[in-house]
Amino acid sequence: MSMTDTQPSGGTPESGEVKHPFHITKEEERKLRLKGAEAVPSLVIGQATSFDEYARQLMIPPAVMDLARKAEDLRLSAWEVEAMRKHLAPAQPGRKVGLLRQILQEKKGNDDSHPPYIRVACTGRGDYDYLAAEHGHLHPDDHPKGDIGSPVVLEIWPAQHYSPIHSHGHTTGIVFCLAGQLDVMVYDRLEWDATKLGLLTLTPGQCAWLSKDTYAVHRVYCPLDGGDGITGPGYMNSTAEFGASFHVYLNPDETAVEREDDESYSRDRFKYVHEITGKHGFFETHSDLSWGILRRVLANTPLT
Ligand SMILES: [Fe+2]
Repeated sequence: MSMTDTQPSGGTPESGEVKHPFHITKEEERKLRLKGAEAVPSLVIGQATSFDEYARQLMIPPAVMDLARKAEDLRLSAWEVEAMRKHLAPAQPGRKVGLLRQILQEKKGNDDSHPPYIRVACTGRGDYDYLAAEHGHLHPDDHPKGDIGSPVVLEIWPAQHYSPIHSHGHTTGIVFCLAGQLDVMVYDRLEWDATKLGLLTLTPGQCAWLSKDTYAVHRVYCPLDGGDGITGPGYMNSTAEFGASFHVYLNPDETAVEREDDESYSRDRFKYVHEITGKHGFFETHSDLSWGILRRVLANTPLT
């Protein structure tokens, strides 16, 4: 595969056909989708319907298969999806902005190197749980700082928003699509000019995976309609469209696979490549909200 990545160019769209988030042409996208579909082991966990596909599924580690099997019946309810849309929608004149849009705005203010997405801890607390108090869904005194390293996280990806390229280090995990649509680009290492191993699109019920040795470095992007403007650093969409994914990450001592090097051994922090500088950094895996609080907010959201 030819290496045609360019350095990111700040908040402006890049020239030609090469755009954020993947910096590839249409032709390269077609080839990377093909490469993703033929990858060994398979990038997506599924029930084989051909001998070839069986061979691609065969080398997916048993620990991953266990996580995927336990997640396979998970779905968001239609009312949960609809309530999330309400909270992601752009502010209407004279009406209070939704909780999720408010968190996106706060996160963009803290880091506009890539369009923000939301992490919801299924265990522990979130950094922005206190905002639920302002929306009348939580006692004002009940706002401890968010935890890091929840093993089970719901991620909410507004249309056209994306993560930086990042590595999950030595963890073993799954990315299970719950709503909308998500594109995942997988890289061979954590560098701005890393070789792209393949591009896949996840729809609800589909499950991607990663381990220390395989597919640990990726970028996630929601390709749905974001409304006005072209995505890139500093972008904020103008629709309520979104994708949602359920993530599980096990530390090495939880999968009985342990080795020594300078990588992250824990889901408490992951390494990434900064979108503007191209340099490495670590981000602590703070959660923005806790699921218990978000679910209460969603349940109290009028849908008409
Ligand atoms: Fe990730």
